[in-house]
Amino acid sequence: MSSKIRLGILGGGGDSLIGVLHRVASSMYDKYQIVGGVFNPNWENNISFAKTLGLSENRVYIDFDAFIEEELKLPVSERIEVVSVLTPNFLHFPMAKKLIENGFHVICEKPLTTTLSEAKTLESALKKANTIFAITYTYTGYPMVRQMREMIQSGVIGDIQKVDIQYYQGWINPILLDKSLRKTIWRLDPEKGGVSCCIGDIGTHAFNMAEYLTGQEVTSILADLNTRYDDNPLDVDGTILIRFSKYVKGVIRASQIATGEENGLEVKIYGSKGGFNWKQENPNYLYHLTDNKPLQVLKPGHAYNGALSLNGTKLPPGHPEGIFDSMGNIYYGVAKAIRNEACDSGEYPTMHDGVRGMKFIEKCVESHKSGNIWLDI
Ligand SMILES: NC(=O)c1ccc[n+]([C@@H]2O[C@H](COP(=O)([O-])OP(=O)(O)OC[C@H]3O[C@@H](n4cnc5c(N)ncnc54)[C@H](O)[C@@H]3O)[C@@H](O)[C@H]2O)c1
Repeated sequence: MSSKIRLGILGGGGDSLIGVLHRVASSMYDKYQIVGGVFNPNWENNISFAKTLGLSENRVYIDFDAFIEEELKLPVSERIEVVSVLTPNFLHFPMAKKLIENGFHVICEKPLTTTLSEAKTLESALKKANTIFAITYTYTGYPMVRQMREMIQSGVIGDIQKVDIQYYQGWINPILLDKSLRKTIWRLDPEKGGVSCCIGDIGTHAFNMAEYLTGQEVTSILADLNTRYDDNPLDVDGTILIRFSKYVKGVIRASQIATGEENGLEVKIYGSKGGFNWKQENPNYLYHLTDNKPLQVLKPGHAYNGALSLNGTKLPPGHPEGIFDSMGNIYYGVAKAIRNEACDSGEYPTMHDGVRGMKFIEKCVESHKSGNIWLDI
């Protein structure tokens, strides 16, 4: 019998953006086997997509309730062990809650939920369940992000003094310009996306990156958001000042109306002895700056990198690895945790990161609506 972890998937069907990333990631280290799930609320689409994956029809369910009911009837040795929740945001909470309460491990897409209160409920449920919960802040899986984290936290750039993280996309711009298209996008619908579009969707990645890399928590924020049009209910752009402490400050800039931008996540972190620049669209290059030496460029797979970075590189240096590998590295970390193997704290983002993300989103919206005031998080 296969020793692979039995994986179920909710959402992520053939029509989705993120499904393929999770399927490839789950296969990358030969640790998981996709067994079943609910890929689409439409049965025809659901079953036909499951067939293209070669899944057994009796493990493809008409909806989430049937998934839980039928899986629980199976002996533990056959039951799905971990479930990836890849649906639009509003379904993360009800699905994750029931999964946790019924003993499944969960890999949940971000943002964790649509409200902070839901996030806290999940956090309490997880404490009782003692199962593994990961949230896929995908970019933490890149080898050079992990290397940057290790070097920052071991003091290579000294004491952090400035954090500047930008996440610019432009894809919503043409959708906003055409009112009929706006209704087709769940991210712009508060019922489905939550209280925020841009900050919830991508600002939260930038926020997570700030805390993941520095190992410090943001203590307060001031947000200036932009919905761009009166009849658009949710933000599509935002600039957020962040403070870690009195002398450690920074900015998060996120936009989905940065016309023509693709997936421009860019990290700039400066300390008393040096700085780092890293760009998601060119992820195998980490730039190390100092006052008095030439610019250094670090790349994956070389022995000068630390263990966590090297663990996430599968090919010799010079073979570019990208977003699939980054997500694959997170799945690898979760597999180790599920199998009770030694696992570094930087290997996968946890429930704590998900709750922090929801605090950030809600406080940004509150700060903006209250006249751009500083709020503690
Ligand atoms: N980590 C990342 O970098 C990243 C990137 C993109 C999206 N996401 C997150 O992934 C999630 C999905 O985003 P997306 O862009 O793939 O959305 P999408 O709209 O492209 O796909 C959603 C999928 O969920 C399915 N679905 C909808 N309702 C369902 C239900 N009741 N049961 C089962 N399946 C259902 C749809 O059929 C579709 O296959 C969101 O929470 C989003 O924030 C994360």
